[in-house]
Amino acid sequence: MLKNINCGDITKGKLGEHVTLAGWVNRRRDHGNLIFIDLRDRTGIVQVVFNPELTTKAHAIAESLRNEWVIQIKGIVSERPEGTVNIDIPSGEVEINAQDILILNESKTPPFYVNEDVDVDENLRLKYRYVDLRRENMKNALVARHNIVKYIRTFLSEREFLEIETPILIKSTPEGARDHVVPSRLYPGTFYALPQSPQQLKQLLMVGGLERYFQIARCFRDEDSRADRQPEFTQLDLEMSFVEQEDILALTEELFTELLKELFPDKSFISPFPRLTYDFAMENYGVDRPDLRFEMKLVDVSNVLEDTDFRVFNDVISKGGVIKGLVASKCAEFTRGKIDELTEFVKSRGANGLISIGISGFGESLSDLDMSHVRSNIQRFLSVEHVQKLADKLNAVDGDLILIIAGDVKPTNSSLGALRNLLGVELGLSDPNVMAFAFVTDFPLFEWNEEEDRWDASHHAFCMPKEGYEQYLADDPGKVVAQSYDLICNGIEMASGSIRVHKRDLQQKIFSVLGYSVEEVTERFSQLLDAFEYGAPPHGGIAPGIDRLVMVLLGRDTIRDVIAFPKTQSQMDPMFGAPSEIEQSQLEELRIQLTSED
Ligand code: AMO
Repeated sequence: MLKNINCGDITKGKLGEHVTLAGWVNRRRDHGNLIFIDLRDRTGIVQVVFNPELTTKAHAIAESLRNEWVIQIKGIVSERPEGTVNIDIPSGEVEINAQDILILNESKTPPFYVNEDVDVDENLRLKYRYVDLRRENMKNALVARHNIVKYIRTFLSEREFLEIETPILIKSTPEGARDHVVPSRLYPGTFYALPQSPQQLKQLLMVGGLERYFQIARCFRDEDSRADRQPEFTQLDLEMSFVEQEDILALTEELFTELLKELFPDKSFISPFPRLTYDFAMENYGVDRPDLRFEMKLVDVSNVLEDTDFRVFNDVISKGGVIKGLVASKCAEFTRGKIDELTEFVKSRGANGLISIGISGFGESLSDLDMSHVRSNIQRFLSVEHVQKLADKLNAVDGDLILIIAGDVKPTNSSLGALRNLLGVELGLSDPNVMAFAFVTDFPLFEWNEEEDRWDASHHAFCMPKEGYEQYLADDPGKVVAQSYDLICNGIEMASGSIRVHKRDLQQKIFSVLGYSVEEVTERFSQLLDAFEYGAPPHGGIAPGIDRLVMVLLGRDTIRDVIAFPKTQSQMDPMFGAPSEIEQSQLEELRIQLTSED
């Protein structure tokens, strides 16, 4: 090795030792005669001193050093002179008195500072990711990610799970996104699809008698990137035979709580994890992944507002819609501009508009409230009784802002739910040290797709209906509740899973609700359906997203910050310049002919 100790391991306990270190120049400072180098490796930083009176040669070389040069240092661990101790780093009480230095490599001036936590354009960071990875934040994320995955592997191995790899070149595995496809050279005109998840493969492993499987699995989905979405990402994919829903939830909860206690002891969480049905979540929070770090429930206020002169309310109610509201505590003084901003936000989430009613200046009792205490964008349509009843129903008090959306049930819920999550962040209600885990259960098996005029699977096609619901498959699929569940945390879907169908007939019935013809089912799913006829055991599983888990635990805003080499938001890799064109000869070999762009 070119070094015999890490920078991070140099502490007072090593005083007097002769050491050989290797790393990067984090910073150089010239103090008259003395030259100080902060030497950095993955484990930390240590100060190196070059004194011309002790080593003329090394001192002369040190004069030429620049940031990010790679060097090897030989020297003695010494106590820092009084008054120069740095309590911010573990090696802060000592320094290395350099005796020798070797320049292992030089560096151009880096495109951005490695040694400072400054905002850098993300495209530039991704183009020079190898420099970006040296920064403290990125390094910490990858170390934490490694520790989390290692913990998961040990936890599951101790519980008799086998880690099994499944293929990447496979066939379309629908999870609701577009496939990434790979042309086959040997069979021109045919394509592999990269797995959107190993869903069918893990089920086939259960049919194969493996009983307990897990994999840190790469999944590929051609969908628009977002802060918590990448076109390729990683799941902890797991599956068990002879289980019921409760077994999977218990295992998942134990894994997450033990992991937190061991690796993130400062984070708090509620145990046992709260359970919410899908209907309850939608009704009270408008979304199936509410941020539960704060209350701010959505309340149906249709019957309070059904008899105003405001036509929008009347229209909505007569068309079977809903009027729902929430209270932003102590926000009565929000400016017009701020309300406009929130209105634009909810409109972008499908609402027609936002009604704001600020109430302030009346004191303790709602009976003292009159219209002079009310500030609303529908002021002239409201009577004092309306506002009092509304405030009473929503538990609003002096100084609060009531926000209301009226419209069809779905967009009203989702836009008000999104507004709730936004306000939670803006009003500082979302404590980053709280991990508000919860299970959402009882999802509907199907969702009506208005645009395409057909049923889609809410989770995927392989979820087992809850007992007593199979009977609705033929005539009323919307009514079928599935044995499926999500783990949510702080407004993010962390994991999703279900008990699976393991019989051919039932699986075929579900495919037919989803509109697959007999031929399509045979073409796409015969491997699974055939397997079900060879002794498939009852089974179920779950798949937590590793990137999202690390993001939430580290309090990062995007999963790109916890992935070594992510794609940009526009699905590019600016470092490799991918995607890119390929050689004409490769196209010919694959018998692919490109058409012009239009
Ligand atoms: P699902 O599609 O819900 O379920 O995915 C499971 C979890 O994977 C994470 N995730 C993503 N993370 C980053 N980028 C993406 N594009 C992305 N898509 C999903 C989320 C999500 O909760 N086969 C089923 C699981 C099962 O039923 O066992 C599946 O893949 O954290």
